[in-house]
Amino acid sequence: MQPTITLNNGVTMPQIGLGVWQAKDGQEVETAVSSALASGYRLIDTAAVYGNESGVGRAIANSGIPREDIFITTKVWNADQGYDETLAAFDKSLERLGLEYIDLYLIHWPVPAKDKYIDTWRALEKLYSDGKVRAIGVSNFTIEYLERLLNETTVIPAVNQVELHPRLSQVALRSYCTEHAIAVESYSPLGGTGGDLLNEPLFSEIGQKYDKSAAQVVLRWHIQNSLVVIPKSVTPERIAQNIDIFDFELSSDDMARIAALNTNTRVGSNPETANFT
Ligand code: A2P
Repeated sequence: MQPTITLNNGVTMPQIGLGVWQAKDGQEVETAVSSALASGYRLIDTAAVYGNESGVGRAIANSGIPREDIFITTKVWNADQGYDETLAAFDKSLERLGLEYIDLYLIHWPVPAKDKYIDTWRALEKLYSDGKVRAIGVSNFTIEYLERLLNETTVIPAVNQVELHPRLSQVALRSYCTEHAIAVESYSPLGGTGGDLLNEPLFSEIGQKYDKSAAQVVLRWHIQNSLVVIPKSVTPERIAQNIDIFDFELSSDDMARIAALNTNTRVGSNPETANFT
């Protein structure tokens, strides 16, 4: 069995999950989620804007796994920010997923230019107090936006999901989150689709010592940094490989050499300027 982490409200969350950004709704996402569940994954990370909540929901329903054994994350999209809009968007996500509750609901992007994330957060607090979500959190929040949320609202986010990998190790944000008991979740943990992080020779060099692939070495680095990690794949063999990382341990020297690859380089959008609707 894979490890879990305990969130700041006592809810436990699997430390590794399947990310489904860019997995097409229908057969592609259903096969990916089904094979992840069959490989032992119990955390699935989707979002309204991915357009694949229906397929994710079908795969969960068809798995025969008890609902309470699966941890589902989804996210409110930028165009739906605002108090009433978020409550309405949540109901639609729930309906598409075919679920009665969500385990973790996130604000997808802060969109500071809109200045609606505080109202949006109040809607998440309402969903949380109504028992429709087991935990609430944010995604793509910098220290500045977290600081404002902490100052102006009541519930401390359980999770901040951000782009994080060896080239963008987010050291300052991670220590801020740890200080405030906010779990950090890495997206694009392998350096993203079309990225070349996995070609870094250091990972194959380290992997040879443990008979593991570059992807397995990188995922193990996330786990040993106490991060929640959601590698994306639609390839069943890779999905199985990515969770087969609990039979080896990177040395502190391996960890330090990987950490030294940081160049603060993003593959995705910058949260301070991203303003897509
Ligand atoms: P695919 O979905 O075609 O299997 P990230 O999680 O950082 O966003 O990376 C996702 C990208 O990495 C996708 O292109 C995915 O391809 C690829 N990928 C996922 N797992 C592995 C793996 N074990 N080995 C190589 N590439 C992988």
